Amino acid sequence: MNDGENSAPDSFEDYSIVASGLKKSFGKLRVLNDLSVKIPGGTTYCLLGPNGSGKTTLIRAVAGLLRLDGGDLRVLGEPVSNVRRVYPRIGYMTQHKALYPDLTLRENMEFYAGLYGIEGVRMSERISELLDMVDLAEHSDRITGDLSGGMYQRLSLACTLIHEPDLLLLDEPTVGIDPILREAFWRFFDDLAEKGATILITTHLMDEAERCKIVGYMRAGKMLAEGSPEELKRLAGLRPVLKLWVNDPEASASILSSRGFDVRRVEDVLQVTIEDHQQLKEVLDQVVPLDLRLIEPSIGDAFLRLAEDESR
Ligand SMILES: Nc1ncnc2c1ncn2[C@@H]1O[C@H](COP(=O)(O)OP(=O)(O)OP(=O)(O)O)[C@@H](O)[C@H]1O
Ligand SMILES: [Mg+2]
Repeated sequence: MNDGENSAPDSFEDYSIVASGLKKSFGKLRVLNDLSVKIPGGTTYCLLGPNGSGKTTLIRAVAGLLRLDGGDLRVLGEPVSNVRRVYPRIGYMTQHKALYPDLTLRENMEFYAGLYGIEGVRMSERISELLDMVDLAEHSDRITGDLSGGMYQRLSLACTLIHEPDLLLLDEPTVGIDPILREAFWRFFDDLAEKGATILITTHLMDEAERCKIVGYMRAGKMLAEGSPEELKRLAGLRPVLKLWVNDPEASASILSSRGFDVRRVEDVLQVTIEDHQQLKEVLDQVVPLDLRLIEPSIGDAFLRLAEDESR
């Protein structure tokens, strides 16, 4: 793979997706606005962003289902237009219902297996394995249209995985899934990534974003901020805050201020913004609190901050 790419400034082999300057409009609506992103192989990458920010459109472009107006997109080392090389290595779970409602669960899975040329014993073994994984084995002969929302999602995931794809595109895969199965899904995603698969996922659930190696925050068709969950919080200007309960708040506040710390006093509690663990230690060298609590910003706080900050 990647023939002839050795002269490129970056090694494309390290990335499952390399998008530069992607453009897409629907009529007058610009949905991908010069969007660039690089997604390394074997990672879990979460796309965050408000409704309509272009996440599904980006995923559809990566799946080769969208004609772009401009830009360059390489997927698994190939131009995305090289459908015959790229498509068999991708598993795409859409945000919308994509299974045949009149078929049984097993028949839907057989249909997907057929699309990828999986048949015979290999097909039946793979179907049994996946139905077990999503806890639907005992329902395999039911009609898909009769399934509950969560069961339907589970079947969609099983169908998406039938051909052991190298790149998984999961558009809100856990909507309607109960917390126990959600946890099982995530352990499974982590395991797949560990084995080398790349997982590009969208979610509106912040605890899921927090579990990903990289989070990209999109707004209005652009990638505004990207990094590990911790880095994204810092990019959004958020820092941990140390709350201190002390005997003499006024004296402690003035000691910390004189040392250059950003201290706020809320009634008798001091709130000190902390840059890193070294600073935490320095604060505790200066004051001996009666009690303390470290409040870490959440990825949800970062999302809100980035969404608010229209000027970025
Ligand atoms: N085929 C289409 N024709 C016209 N407009 C479209 C089409 N597909 C998407 N759009 C519009 O493009 C914008 C981005 O849509 P997209 O589905 O990519 O958003 P999203 O970030 O996935 O949102 P959500 O969080 O709600 O899933 C929206 O305004 C949507 O209405
Ligand atoms: Mg979407």
